[in-house]
Amino acid sequence: MYRCALILAAGQGTRIKSDIPKVLHKVCGKEMVNHVIDNMRKASIEDVNVIIGKGAELVKKETESRKVSYSLQEEQLGTGHAVKCAAEFLKGKKGTVLIFAGDAPLTKETTIKELIKYHEENNNSATLLSALVEDPTGYGRIIRDENGQVLKIVEHKDCNEEELKVNEMNAAMYCFDIEDLVNALEKISNDNVQGEYYLTDAIGIVKEEGKKVGAVVTDYEDTIGVNSRAQLAEAEEILRNRINRIHLDNGVTLIDPRSTYIGADVVIGKDTILYPNTILEGNTKIGQRCTILQNTRIKDSIIENGATIESSVILESKVGENTNVGPFAYIRPESSIGNNVKIGDFVEIKKANIGNETKVAHLTYIGDAEVGSGCNFGCGTVVVNYDGKKKHKTIIGDNSFIGCNTNLVSPVKVGDNTYIAAGSTITNEVSEGDLAIARAKQRNIKGWVEKKGLKK
Ligand code: UD1
Ligand code: CA
Repeated sequence: MYRCALILAAGQGTRIKSDIPKVLHKVCGKEMVNHVIDNMRKASIEDVNVIIGKGAELVKKETESRKVSYSLQEEQLGTGHAVKCAAEFLKGKKGTVLIFAGDAPLTKETTIKELIKYHEENNNSATLLSALVEDPTGYGRIIRDENGQVLKIVEHKDCNEEELKVNEMNAAMYCFDIEDLVNALEKISNDNVQGEYYLTDAIGIVKEEGKKVGAVVTDYEDTIGVNSRAQLAEAEEILRNRINRIHLDNGVTLIDPRSTYIGADVVIGKDTILYPNTILEGNTKIGQRCTILQNTRIKDSIIENGATIESSVILESKVGENTNVGPFAYIRPESSIGNNVKIGDFVEIKKANIGNETKVAHLTYIGDAEVGSGCNFGCGTVVVNYDGKKKHKTIIGDNSFIGCNTNLVSPVKVGDNTYIAAGSTITNEVSEGDLAIARAKQRNIKGWVEKKGLKK
């Protein structure tokens, strides 16, 4: 059976009170609409069309990497109208179309697969996903007949007193037979309290035509739709707990799951330990047996097996096996730190490669540099990479000993097996095997203190 998906993402989302489109607000570091796209892909649906309107360019930009197609809904006249705007995408297609709201990011892969299976095995024209909730305020209600068959969906604002008491809510996630959907869309009107073309009416229309309509009831946590900041925080908490649980089940120790923040796409190896206030974001991959100590933020980075990171920030970089970083280190984008390296306190590394076994223990800046293996950086070394106009490169060979408080004025080269005396400002190449001293010679003035009358 051919399957495709439509994701509704054209609304502004007035209730969230934001200048950016609602579907771009993030849950566990990922835009809601991208969660929905990824959920479709997990259910093996490749052909995904996103309906955009408010903030169309922004939504397009943020979803582009996921290789979806787009339909434009210029005016937001309701969810039914939105689907109509995908007419071109659906044209000539036969099979099942999944329609999901772009503001409902938490549907589990298993639930989507169950929805599809139920829909296709029963030869339904339409199948919806619903949940039983204590307080269905704001959600559409599922109205069933005396035999429990789905009759229609009534929006909260259009409910009569009896319908308001129904606590089975519409998740805004459906499977439709494509041809039956296209026919039903023709018959939707905007004769309701909000004056909108509701997609929900398509269910009642298909039913009235004597076709098969069904429902799959799932957990509320699968279906939560985010209309407000409060619901955004609720979704964040649900997903955070779910993600943490997956890592716990995979053999990762979380000292305090409540204060551990792991992005939806982060991968962590077993026997790694995460201490409180760890924030792991984006496409971060942490190896096995790592220790990530308190107050660390790692984004889009690879940390290899056995590394220890304490109270540090690491962005778009790589840290090798058994390397120690921090406390209080800042590894900026495009850096690659080797194996068994020590990056100590108040060290900043930017766009630099650091070879294996090198030690940069304290108070040092290394930017735009290639550093070999087995080097030792004294306290307070600065790579002077910027001349006010341009960035320049510094190259340091293997087994170099850089004395405390050295300035390396770029572009400059330091060979293998070299020594630089403490306090030197290096502007010329240091050749292999040499010692460089670049500082004024010490001079002592005898009896100066007494002569000046400063002796106490
Ligand atoms: C919708 C459902 C409701 C369901 C709830 C679940 C309708 C009429 N109502 O209500 O039954 O219980 O979701 O969360 O469908 N959108 C467009 N174009 C539009 C209007 C909306 O693309 O013209 C998009 C929005 O960007 C959003 C999604 O459709 O991602 C849902 O719209 P929203 O206004 O949030 O619908 P609800 O009132 O939550
Ligand atoms: Ca909604």
